[in-house]
Amino acid sequence: MRFVINDTDIETDIDPRTSLLDLLREQIGLTGTKKGCNQGACGACTVLVDGERILSCLALAVQYEGRQVTTVEGLADQAGLHPLQKAFIEHDGFQCGYCTPGQLCSAIGMAAELQRGLPSHVTGDLSAMAIRATREELAERMSGNLCRCGAHNGIIDAIDEVFGERRGQQGYDAEMPEKVA
Ligand code: FES
Ligand code: FES
Repeated sequence: MRFVINDTDIETDIDPRTSLLDLLREQIGLTGTKKGCNQGACGACTVLVDGERILSCLALAVQYEGRQVTTVEGLADQAGLHPLQKAFIEHDGFQCGYCTPGQLCSAIGMAAELQRGLPSHVTGDLSAMAIRATREELAERMSGNLCRCGAHNGIIDAIDEVFGERRGQQGYDAEMPEKVA
């Protein structure tokens, strides 16, 4: 089967029962994506597929043949770290780092959802043309990504500076993710 992972074509035979997470970690050697609960509860395994965040532990790899899969290893580019990665460093958005790859990918997917105007549980005005990326809104949208180290406040601070209402104030200007169809 052919997979496109971090803009690289990869051909590999797989057992059809293999999860996308196990394909990434065990077969391809991209161990940045982490296995926490392996049952959809912690968010550590979050990756992007065509710009949308998914839990790779709950995804069968065969479903993603030919789709654009992005893992934490694919976030930096020739210019260096992604602005969100820099902001995580600046705000101590991690301690052990185990949840970090999932937090980063999830936040980028979350920003795309905001761009698309998808409401969350705490969105006040469902008819608004643009949803305000308040701290409360960001925290709610990131609630599927758990941090056992207590870095939660730093994580939200970092996301706020890159995708929230404090966007760009400290120089971490990130392009908003492209709108996903
Ligand atoms: S490892 Fe996938 S949600 Fe926990
Ligand atoms: S930094 Fe350790 S679990 Fe989040």
